[in-house]
Amino acid sequence: MSTQKTILRALAGETLPTPPIWMMRQAGRYLPEYKATRAQAGDFLSLCYNPELAAEVTLQPIRRYGFDAAILFADILLLPQALGADLWFVTGEGPRLSTITSAEELDVLKPVTAIHDTLSPIYETVKILSRELPDETTLIGFAGAPWTVATYMVAGKGTPDQGPAHALKDANKDVFEALLDRITEGTIDYLSEQIKAGAEVVKLFDSWAGSLQGSDFLNYSVKPMAQIVAALKAKHPTTPIIAFPRGAGEKYVGLHAAIGADCIALDDGVTVHWAAEKVQVNGCVQGNLKSSHMVTGGDDLVSETRRIVDALSNGPHIFNLGHGITPDADPENVQLMIDTVRGN
Ligand code: CP3
Repeated sequence: MSTQKTILRALAGETLPTPPIWMMRQAGRYLPEYKATRAQAGDFLSLCYNPELAAEVTLQPIRRYGFDAAILFADILLLPQALGADLWFVTGEGPRLSTITSAEELDVLKPVTAIHDTLSPIYETVKILSRELPDETTLIGFAGAPWTVATYMVAGKGTPDQGPAHALKDANKDVFEALLDRITEGTIDYLSEQIKAGAEVVKLFDSWAGSLQGSDFLNYSVKPMAQIVAALKAKHPTTPIIAFPRGAGEKYVGLHAAIGADCIALDDGVTVHWAAEKVQVNGCVQGNLKSSHMVTGGDDLVSETRRIVDALSNGPHIFNLGHGITPDADPENVQLMIDTVRGN
């Protein structure tokens, strides 16, 4: 029997009797211990840039639940900040950034070589975690995919339809593409440093991929992710990569090969039997359980969890939610999900 960690086995294409499990946003406001450490740090960004405390909140859900993977505690918007954008969080509303909508504003950004000045505490967090995590737990690093990061850099905040980024793409393609290139290059260096510091897997979050249609989906979601994967595979050939093109719908088909990813993360908008037949057939998949079950719990949570485990039992599968757990979730429902997956 292989002694390799279960997540790495699933990512290598192995079908396991029980899928390994972790959860998007597993360190977060639904946990009282997270809220306490965040209060100690002062605010969210201070927590991200404090290696000891960021490692502590990363470890909290591992201690409480024994997940098979820990995901580095950080944020996809730290890279824009490292590139020179102003970044702050408004309580109850979310992130705010200085905007980039012209060649002049793009020119103000720092060169990619400067990002490590800001991001070095994140690499320190990774180093602490690779020392402190239990032997069986896999450490996942991450970054935003270029399109999703660009939507925040152009609009200066989260937007329901990513309108400002679409407008820049359509009105000033050169500036838009130069911005995507800068983020792509920065992401390669950022993830490469995370891997050097000890991340065993990395994940790309393209949370807003669903608003790109047709050739735009290929050019601005798939292509930059494929560039990042190719560059990382050249430098770190044994590090598996998970890609999460949220909202891709029917365009999920063929993405393992198109992106070069070892695993494709599914949102909750696809039917699990369809995903088994059309997506898992090409490699490992992860995700699909609606995050709202972590709020509502009960029999529905148990039956939906079992349905996903069964439907994906004939191929490589990592159990996860279709998106991040929300602050109103009940920590006991997380335990119920884990017990159901593990058959306890
Ligand atoms: O998954 C984890 O536990 C690791 C840490 C992590 C965070 N953000 C911490 C966080 C990860 C992987 C992310 C990714 C992230 N950040 C994404 C992509 C995934 C997704 O959810 O679609 C995006 C779009 C962001 C940007 C971001 N960060 C937004 C829009 C917000 C505000 C919304 C909110 O939930 O408050 C954040 C803040 C944020 N990032 C929090 C956490 C735990 C909440 C901050 C707090 O403690 O107040």
